[in-house]
Amino acid sequence: MTILITGASGFLGANLAHDLAQTYSVIGTYRNEYPPVPGVDWVSMDLTCRDSVRQVVENCCPTVAVHCAAQANTERAQTHFDEAVQINRDGTCLLVESLPRDCYLIHISTEHVYNASKSWFLETDPPGPVNQYGRTKLLAEQEVLHFEGDWIILRMALLYGGRKEYRLCFSDRIYSQMKQGKPVSLFMDEFRTPLNMSDVAIAVQAAMERHPAREIFNLGGPDRLSRAEFGAILAEETGLDPGLIQRISVDSSPTIAPRPRDLSLNSDKIRSCLGIHPLSVREGIRRAYSTCP
Ligand SMILES: NC(=O)c1ccc[n+]([C@@H]2O[C@H](COP(=O)([O-])OP(=O)(O)OC[C@H]3O[C@@H](n4cnc5c(N)ncnc54)[C@H](OP(=O)(O)O)[C@@H]3O)[C@@H](O)[C@H]2O)c1
Repeated sequence: MTILITGASGFLGANLAHDLAQTYSVIGTYRNEYPPVPGVDWVSMDLTCRDSVRQVVENCCPTVAVHCAAQANTERAQTHFDEAVQINRDGTCLLVESLPRDCYLIHISTEHVYNASKSWFLETDPPGPVNQYGRTKLLAEQEVLHFEGDWIILRMALLYGGRKEYRLCFSDRIYSQMKQGKPVSLFMDEFRTPLNMSDVAIAVQAAMERHPAREIFNLGGPDRLSRAEFGAILAEETGLDPGLIQRISVDSSPTIAPRPRDLSLNSDKIRSCLGIHPLSVREGIRRAYSTCP
């Protein structure tokens, strides 16, 4: 079985490639540089170039494609909307057109397709992104629906953890700042259901085994909390000083892209369909940071 991971040079892609390469033959795509992930074969691919996407797919003949590559920077997508459309929507369209029908497509989407008007979103809730990043990711999902083979869409929550030798994430930055004894400002009024990185590979492997088709799944952790609450658990579990956390409001720190207050995901469907049990934030932090220097 050959797994093609697009965007394997990114935060999610590198960690996923690392875990899947323990068992499967993995080909990872990168655009600029690739990270030192053991056991992965690398190939350069530009999602904005039809020939590049076609050539990579033709050469790899993937059994499974996990489409992680995207313009995933919310602020950049807000200020460079056309570029984000080209990468997220048009790039997904090129991939969908190029993949053979017998390839299983696992498309990585985001919590940002929802509209932040409630808590614990279900897959049946109508999407309604409030920023351009969410809009382009929703457009990408619509391209996936045209794929003639089997596909699933994973709408993922905010990710944390992962291996420190690849790209760092928000929790690494909080950890590193507190470790140096520096104060850290964290939102107290923006809620997510953070997902430990290790649960993504578990979900992808479960999907490959059980092979659900033409389904959309939310994939988040079991806890709904703010970044300030997340930081407090991180401090408790790693013995850092919780007094360094400054609880601030989203209103006090304006961003270019609107920040949805609540994008908590109800992930009951994927739990029951794939038999997976994403880690609580406390357990996830314990595993991700217990061995950190
Ligand atoms: N991080 C999260 O908390 C989170 C939460 C929910 C969903 N997601 C989704 O997860 C996926 C990965 O996100 P991430 O956080 O890992 O982002 P990331 O670190 O920015 O990685 C993005 C990846 O996409 C590649 N890429 C960007 N533009 C490309 C292009 N034109 N052609 C080919 N490849 C291109 C990048 O390649 P280079 O780096 O080589 O340029 C990189 O490998 C995205 O689909 C995102 O929407 C992420």
